[in-house]
Amino acid sequence: MTRSLDPLLTAVDGALRTLFARPHASRSLPKPAQPPGRLSDAERREAGALMRVNHVGEVCAQALYTAQAAVTLDPSLRAHFVAAADEETDHLAWTRQRLNELGARASLLNPLWYAGAFGLGLVAGRLGDALSLGFVAETERQVEAHLDGHLERLPAGDTESRAVVLQMKADEARHAAEARSAGGQELPAPARAAMRLASRVMTTVAHRI
Ligand SMILES: [Fe+2]
Ligand SMILES: [Fe+2]
Repeated sequence: MTRSLDPLLTAVDGALRTLFARPHASRSLPKPAQPPGRLSDAERREAGALMRVNHVGEVCAQALYTAQAAVTLDPSLRAHFVAAADEETDHLAWTRQRLNELGARASLLNPLWYAGAFGLGLVAGRLGDALSLGFVAETERQVEAHLDGHLERLPAGDTESRAVVLQMKADEARHAAEARSAGGQELPAPARAAMRLASRVMTTVAHRI
């Protein structure tokens, strides 16, 4: 009885904390190697839009990891997912801080992104631990590639956002490697393609809204 309620309560608690509480980073905001340059209005808007996309990605990361932690029956794997979600909280806090500093707002659709990602996490979790971890590895690999693209697109003068994205990219690469070494199985090509498509929809919409 409590077992069947657990995932629901975890979902509600995780969603409320991610969407409405101020996230607390355990590591301090990554420092830029070079002092920031002056941004034109257009550059500031573009940097804000890109960091909004990255913030949405971190909202989704919270949802995915929380859902997967809720459904796995293996306590050590649950601990792995919870620890990963903790580290993603740093990313959530850092991207949020950059949004504030750039004068940009978070996505208005965050509750929807959270719900969608939570649902995906539940489905992945129910496929069994090897595929669930494979889903994590593939997600993190795609996020890493996407962050690489943002390093090309972020204005050169926004060294502060670039420092955040660089550290996130390194963390996501490690998350992918950890999921693979914990037994993550390679997903079939159509699943990987569907994930790329879903993330393209999310990044295109979140760039604006
Ligand atoms: Fe992240
Ligand atoms: Fe990650």
